[in-house]
Amino acid sequence: MKLFAHRGLCADAPENTMAAFRAAYQAGFTWIETDVDITADGSLPLCHDATLERTTTGHGRVDALRAADLDTLDAGSWFSPGFAGEKIPTLAQLVDFALEAGISINIEMKPCAQGGQQARALVRAVAEQARRLGPERALVSSFSHLQLAEFARYAPEIPRGALVDRASFGPDWRTVLDLTDSRYLHVSDDAVTAAVVAEARAVGRDVHVYTVNSPERARQLERWGVAGVFTDGFVRP
Ligand code: G3P
Ligand code: MG
Repeated sequence: MKLFAHRGLCADAPENTMAAFRAAYQAGFTWIETDVDITADGSLPLCHDATLERTTTGHGRVDALRAADLDTLDAGSWFSPGFAGEKIPTLAQLVDFALEAGISINIEMKPCAQGGQQARALVRAVAEQARRLGPERALVSSFSHLQLAEFARYAPEIPRGALVDRASFGPDWRTVLDLTDSRYLHVSDDAVTAAVVAEARAVGRDVHVYTVNSPERARQLERWGVAGVFTDGFVRP
């Protein structure tokens, strides 16, 4: 079963920083998951939240700021003083690292609150970076199925995963996979069932489950036929 280091090895290092990605690689993970947003001037910072407060010394919305505004922020001290000085990396930096280390990335495109042009700019810029990795090393996902459908039109060769959580999980998941031409269903651990896994596999799809931090639960999901799980680091390769 594939193991994705969720936001890097975020149990051991501040999420979505190079320290967390390096820690994942050193722990033997061959897949890393990361969240990507877009700034007002088109840079691709790796940041889970739409706003900066929780994980950095900055304030406000990521998509309203410019790349230079983010460069000055500390993305490590909130986690522990030992990580002071960690920066918010860009997707290009992580892709450089993955190519050098020989690992793969699940790039999760964050839904763009501004929609429209900014959402499309994010899709195009992510496609450019995913192409550097190639279809074997890149997997692109999103809770925004519109963005994912746009990505499918723009970079059909890069595999996709349609994200759903408990709130958004309903009978139309099959249609979502069809319309976004996604090989993978990325479903939350509180919504997945053995029946869904069996049904997805019966139509040639695979299921990845987030976020799984119990090795026992990971083994159970593997028995159900789940192809991969996202873990903060409590399930180890
Ligand atoms: O991509 C799997 C998982 O990361 C989705 O949820 O909120 O942690 O980005 P979230
Ligand atoms: Mg994510």
